[in-house]
Amino acid sequence: MASSVAPLALSASAAAIRENPKRIGVGKRGDNLFFKGKAFGRVRMAVAVNVSRFESVTMAPPDPILGVSEAFKADTSDVKLNLGVGAYRTEELQPYVLNVVRKAENLMLERGENKEYLPIEGLAAFNKVTADLLFGANNIVVQEGKVATVQSLSGTGSLRLAAAFIQRYFPDAKVLISSPTWGNHKNIFNDARVPWSEYRYYDPRTVGLDFDGMLADIKAAPDGSFVLLHGCAHNPTGIDPTPEQWNKLADIIQDKNHIPFFDVAYQGFASGSLDTDAYSVRLFVERGLELLVAQSYSKNLGLYAERIGAINVVCSSSDAAARVKSQLKRLARPMYSNPPVHGARIVANVVGDPTLFNEWKQEMELMAGRIKNVRQRLFDYLSRKDKSGKDWSFILKQIGMFSFTGLNKAQSEHMTNKWHVYMTKDGRISLAGLSLSKCEYLADAIIDSFHNVS
Ligand code: LMR
Repeated sequence: MASSVAPLALSASAAAIRENPKRIGVGKRGDNLFFKGKAFGRVRMAVAVNVSRFESVTMAPPDPILGVSEAFKADTSDVKLNLGVGAYRTEELQPYVLNVVRKAENLMLERGENKEYLPIEGLAAFNKVTADLLFGANNIVVQEGKVATVQSLSGTGSLRLAAAFIQRYFPDAKVLISSPTWGNHKNIFNDARVPWSEYRYYDPRTVGLDFDGMLADIKAAPDGSFVLLHGCAHNPTGIDPTPEQWNKLADIIQDKNHIPFFDVAYQGFASGSLDTDAYSVRLFVERGLELLVAQSYSKNLGLYAERIGAINVVCSSSDAAARVKSQLKRLARPMYSNPPVHGARIVANVVGDPTLFNEWKQEMELMAGRIKNVRQRLFDYLSRKDKSGKDWSFILKQIGMFSFTGLNKAQSEHMTNKWHVYMTKDGRISLAGLSLSKCEYLADAIIDSFHNVS
């Protein structure tokens, strides 16, 4: 007990020192420190040096994605452009709250809903519409209760919960991750103490998919590995397998007894169609594979700060699904107890109501359409202004909110230092943060960085 007394005595006395700096010193009686005397300078040193238990804590580096937004805020240039974080902006480069979200929130206010705790697995109405949206309401796995769905803290929280599940129930398995991948994937598995290795994905020569490399690495991995796949709109490359390639991947994964683990962060936002973007997941389900899907509503409903998403585990029986769900709940309870309700109600109201659902689909098409327009415009400027004959058509082949420009670290840094274009150092730009009127400026910056920085 003695050790807990000293910090309390110190913090109380620190306030007194501030008020009476001349009259107070420090002494020691038993295990307790106390203050007396006159030497304020020395006392301050004693407090600063001896009190902190955190001397060994080093400064963490800025986050490679969210840190870009912080750097952008600090830049006072008029021409600055934030293409770092994947967040949708309007043509005026303002954040956008969907009309259907506003309508759902008004409904919630009218109903005067309470703020009681949700169950550990989340809001039942949310979990139902979420599984329906992903797999299709008529899907046999949904109808037969073979999906364990647990509401979680958007994509990241869902991945983290699943990682904890893998660590507990598959301690010898590793997760195969695409190279490159979203900047947070490796952190998530590292922190959950789940081993991972990479499979080839991106071919810098073609700025396209290295499909043969991908297949070879997935084949070479130990049987029963988890294969992390981006369901649509691969982040950061924007390069997806074709339907034929998805089929081949399913063959190999099945042969190897691997477990597919989909990260679906852009359903509906990539192509503009919810069904098209669920193609890969539904294909694997149709082929009878057990699998995991982490889902997020950050992008497609613009609910970034609500932290709303889910982890879904498709099992071969309803009994297994019930057991898996019980264990996911058991993992969630000591981590965050139960999830927040606000975003879950928004989703349940929008997806569960036919009128709002249709309005949402229209708004999503608008957002996806705006991104396609800036993608086209950027390509047009690059092709027109770059006289070197370089082929920029890979930009049009990519899908979703990002473009992987092929710029290296030094070139990406040049984009920021000279042109005030904020982007991640792997050469990714978020087209959702670009307007038509800024495309020419961005094309100039890319051409300069590409040709003049090695
Ligand atoms: C991104 O990749 O920019 C987004 O998914 C935001 C994030 O959390 O990193």
